[in-house]
Amino acid sequence: MDFFNYKDNTLFAENVAVSELAKHYQTPLYVYSRATIERHWHAFNEAAGEHPHLVCYAVKANSNLAVLNVMARLGSGFDIVSKGELARVIEAGGDVSKVVFSGVGKKSDEIAYALEKGIYCFNVESEPELERIQRVAKSLDKVAPISLRVNPDVDAGTHPYISTGLKENKFGVAIDDALPIYLKAKQMSHIAIKGIDCHIGSQLTSVAPFIDALDRLLITIDTLAEQGIILSHIDVGGGLGVHYKDENPPLPREYATAIVERLAGRKLTLLFEPGRAIMANAGILITEVEFIKTNQDRHFALVDAAMNDLIRPALYQAWQNIIPVTVDHTLESKVYDIVGPVCETGDFLGKDRDLAIQAGDLLAVRSSGAYGFTMSSNYNSRPRAAEVMVDGEQHFLVRQRESLAQLWQGESLLP
Ligand code: LLP
Repeated sequence: MDFFNYKDNTLFAENVAVSELAKHYQTPLYVYSRATIERHWHAFNEAAGEHPHLVCYAVKANSNLAVLNVMARLGSGFDIVSKGELARVIEAGGDVSKVVFSGVGKKSDEIAYALEKGIYCFNVESEPELERIQRVAKSLDKVAPISLRVNPDVDAGTHPYISTGLKENKFGVAIDDALPIYLKAKQMSHIAIKGIDCHIGSQLTSVAPFIDALDRLLITIDTLAEQGIILSHIDVGGGLGVHYKDENPPLPREYATAIVERLAGRKLTLLFEPGRAIMANAGILITEVEFIKTNQDRHFALVDAAMNDLIRPALYQAWQNIIPVTVDHTLESKVYDIVGPVCETGDFLGKDRDLAIQAGDLLAVRSSGAYGFTMSSNYNSRPRAAEVMVDGEQHFLVRQRESLAQLWQGESLLP
């Protein structure tokens, strides 16, 4: 459930009319709802109940400082994949001791930075990476807490680009190779073995693959215990899907309860790394219709947001609902392709949408809070959109619209 609803044919973000936000901040504009973010975060946190746990919000979904700060105030942990994301967490007031560091290609300086800041755990994705962490930790005279990301080889049944738990993916180590790597880690002077983790994909719409993966991890945990390696946490990754169109994913409560039940009687702290499930439906992208254009067989709504602002439709053929900010019953509805000004045929936000609209109207692309702004770019030298956070009756600019000069910041002419 989210807090973007119509009142008298006008879309509201919590108690603020979206049309007012567009007037105030111009478009394209990302709008986030604080109440929605908090509600979704609490859903995970409360579902885990009394079982020791930590919700580590996946920063890549939306790394705006205000978003991270909302999580930090809730006492959230964070899942990061780069030095930049860790620096953001720190800048936003996040607790570094609740940070897990995922990602297949951690550089030595990133490892050193995380060690100096004192993160909770490195999610190690390969043997060479383990060796690198040992080397860096030794040089800094620190002990690196680690967990091994294993690849349980379950089919998450999602889009191939975002399915990560299969043998052929680049992520983690094959679950059958885990034992020798743990044994090696045990011998390392500056490594402390803490846990095990997996992340099998994103936008999963059933609990079954998560439980399959969990069961495989639990077998590994028991095998390790027989070898004297006792883990203190299990990190089940992120990946819980959201409702975009026809999907009916389990609620965070159902998902977390199923996991916690499996862990009963085990002394294992449970870590989650949700990104999309917290943020996707906590954000919308507002765009204005510049022109209505009709070719022989198609109607186009040319809008001022484009693939550089929201790339999910172009990249994954993702479907996100597009709704008018103000419903006008006097207009005739037609089937439109909602397209941006970028010079690519793939530049669309939605196709074949039934809408009653005219030039000058505002549209809201729903479910844009996750992997929206964070995946945006300056393609076609388009300044990136502004971001606003709504909180009840109040609204705050949490990222200024980029200026033209910012487009070439750091560039220089030849001497
Ligand atoms: N943990 C790890 C190690 C991950 O790689 C990811 C996402 C997450 C957690 C968070 O997953 P979530 O709960 O958000 O599904 N850009 C794509 C999604 C890419 C997900 C990458 N990894 C999209 O727009 O659909």
